[in-house]
Amino acid sequence: MPLEYSAHSFNYVDYFQRATAFLSEHRWIFEQSNTKFVQAGILDAFPRTWIQDFKRANNEELNQIPLGYVNEAWCDDFKQFLRSVDSLSVEYERKCDSLDGNPATVKGISPKKLYEIRNLTSLIGDICEPSETLLDFGSGLGYLSQNLHSAHQLRVLGLEGDPYRVQAAQQRQMKLFPDSQEHVKYVQHCILEESFPQIQDSCKLAFSEDLNSTYAIVGLHACADLSITAINMFLSHDTITKLVIMPCCYHKLECDSDSNCAKFRNFPISDPLRDATEMVSNFIGRPFLRLGCQQTSARWRNMTPEEHAAHGLAMFERSLVEAIVEPGHKVTKRKNLSNSGSGSILDKYQLCDEAGSELKWSDQQYKELEKLSEKYPDGSQLAEYLTCLQTCLQPICENLILLDRMCHIEKEAQSRNITVRCKLVKFANDKLSPRCFVIIVEKINTDC
Ligand SMILES: C[S@@+](CC[C@H](N)C(=O)[O-])C[C@H]1O[C@@H](n2cnc3c(N)ncnc32)[C@H](O)[C@@H]1O
Repeated sequence: MPLEYSAHSFNYVDYFQRATAFLSEHRWIFEQSNTKFVQAGILDAFPRTWIQDFKRANNEELNQIPLGYVNEAWCDDFKQFLRSVDSLSVEYERKCDSLDGNPATVKGISPKKLYEIRNLTSLIGDICEPSETLLDFGSGLGYLSQNLHSAHQLRVLGLEGDPYRVQAAQQRQMKLFPDSQEHVKYVQHCILEESFPQIQDSCKLAFSEDLNSTYAIVGLHACADLSITAINMFLSHDTITKLVIMPCCYHKLECDSDSNCAKFRNFPISDPLRDATEMVSNFIGRPFLRLGCQQTSARWRNMTPEEHAAHGLAMFERSLVEAIVEPGHKVTKRKNLSNSGSGSILDKYQLCDEAGSELKWSDQQYKELEKLSEKYPDGSQLAEYLTCLQTCLQPICENLILLDRMCHIEKEAQSRNITVRCKLVKFANDKLSPRCFVIIVEKINTDC
């Protein structure tokens, strides 16, 4: 039975303790990058009884496993694993799809992006008012900023670290939305937690703002540490009264310089999750964060046997090739395959040295690859079973990452005597938009 998430009443301590113990116990499933699983011996760690159960499952069953399907005939510890996954699943408030949108914003935008822009615009429009100044963190080409103004006449300052994107956003604005130039502005700014005074100065310059203005931080795909910067800035300044942010790219979080990427500056950020992780063997690293933003069960559930076979084969072959590469050398998949190759897997991959110069595969490497292929005759099937287990764990990893942020917001607000209303909302179509969570926080004025 999934737990219902409701901020303020959710038992973070209990969830973090159960989830970290479970993930730590099963870290072999995700602790290596998927290109390295052969080399790391993950196939040898795969319980034989689980493999037998997978082999007996038909395609429909395989697709349903990450959604909670359990066959009573399967072995006890596999069933126990799947039941634990189910007990750690969390249901979030769903945002109904927004159908509104300005047709001018459609040009050149993918359906996924358009879906996200429209739905985030609708959530922001529900709580923000034209009297506020919106700060679009990591505004990129200005899709969200422009749509917020078109749909709700909101005043937006787009803040973007990359000067080329700022320029591109301004050009796009001039071409498609020339009438918005008074109300939507873009500035190049590398946002840091302490940048708010400079941001206020930019707003005054851009909009001739009076000193009493209040702000809302918004962001579409506020990647990696940018979401945390937004959260901490929101908590630190009274005049920032709202936060509506859609985080992404957890795997790009900055690691602590001396931790060999086993610790991150902004993960965990809440004390309860930090305490829970300290009680178990460490499982937090880049692969954990990467799994948090890997494909969700929404895509897995409709895969055909052919798609599974092709994915498993590609993943296994890549990992085989990585296993025979010398340290410092790199492999990339060739785009154009010539017919003149030897028929070996190695024909599909290009080997390069550290400087990027192409190298030839040696006879020894051909032999090693053959040996490994013989050792794992069902390697591509096992790769797909491993992906299935990862798909089971993906939501738990993402829950930990997002709930850590929600817990941090609540505890920090409490310690600073700020009353907040928090929500974590999920868009309805997580197949079209897999990173579809939105953190919504409003400061409540308790004086009146
Ligand atoms: C994933 S992109 C999203 C862009 C845009 N919001 C969208 O959805 O189309 C993230 C953007 O944030 C910008 N960014 C990341 N960290 C930043 C920071 N600290 N300050 C300013 N911009 C930042 C990046 O340059 C990039 O354009």
